[in-house]
Amino acid sequence: MSYRFDVLTLFPALFDGLRHESLIGKALESQTITLELHNWRAFATDRHSTVDDAPFGGGAGLVIKPDPLVHCLRAVVPAGARTILLSPSGRRFEQKLAQEWAQLPGITLICGRYEGFDHRVEAHVDDVVSIGDFVLNGGEVAAMAIIEAVARLLPGVIGNAASLTEESFADGLLEYPQYTRPRDFEGQTVPDVLLSGNHAEIAKWRLAQRIARTRAMRPDLLKA
Ligand SMILES: C[S@@+](CC[C@H](N)C(=O)[O-])C[C@H]1O[C@@H](n2cnc3c(N)ncnc32)[C@H](O)[C@@H]1O
Repeated sequence: MSYRFDVLTLFPALFDGLRHESLIGKALESQTITLELHNWRAFATDRHSTVDDAPFGGGAGLVIKPDPLVHCLRAVVPAGARTILLSPSGRRFEQKLAQEWAQLPGITLICGRYEGFDHRVEAHVDDVVSIGDFVLNGGEVAAMAIIEAVARLLPGVIGNAASLTEESFADGLLEYPQYTRPRDFEGQTVPDVLLSGNHAEIAKWRLAQRIARTRAMRPDLLKA
């Protein structure tokens, strides 16, 4: 059975590149995953297909109306699927969550635009998630980031499954520094140990590098 991604978006064409290129394109082609895009403008009932309106209480911009969006959600989401609203004020999306969601049959991601959603939409979803402490114009780029992070953990999406266990965050540490040819790039040389052929020494060096790099770049991970 394919892993199922459903995305609710007012701008489905933004997903064109993701659908056709690289590993996600291949995973779709082999039906390891499916990706269904739903534009909830089709669920607006007035003649202008209105999906947003001015905020009660005043303020800048427009807010996404709850009715067309929730009607769309009810119509398209498979029974029992996990529904996730994308919002800068959600809980932080991290590798652990990607690992958890990769165990499900699928997820539904809801992309906001404008000033975001009418608050009442939150009562109709399972989770509210942010991809970081910054504000995007819309949820589509966040949805694509989550689709990539989850899809690459599914069996058959990445050619070499071993690369998943050695990656950053797999065990709470960042990855060790990697090198390839040439051995000397403008005076920057590859560490001798990597050319030694001594696999025990290489493994020791890599672990020491992972700890040092995590301490320097992300001390919060070591504390955790
Ligand atoms: C311009 S933003 C709305 C920002 C909102 N007024 C606020 O201050 O939190 C429009 C939409 O982009 C998406 N978005 C923006 N930043 C995001 C982030 N860091 N993580 C997830 N989604 C994000 C959300 O779906 C949001 O509803």
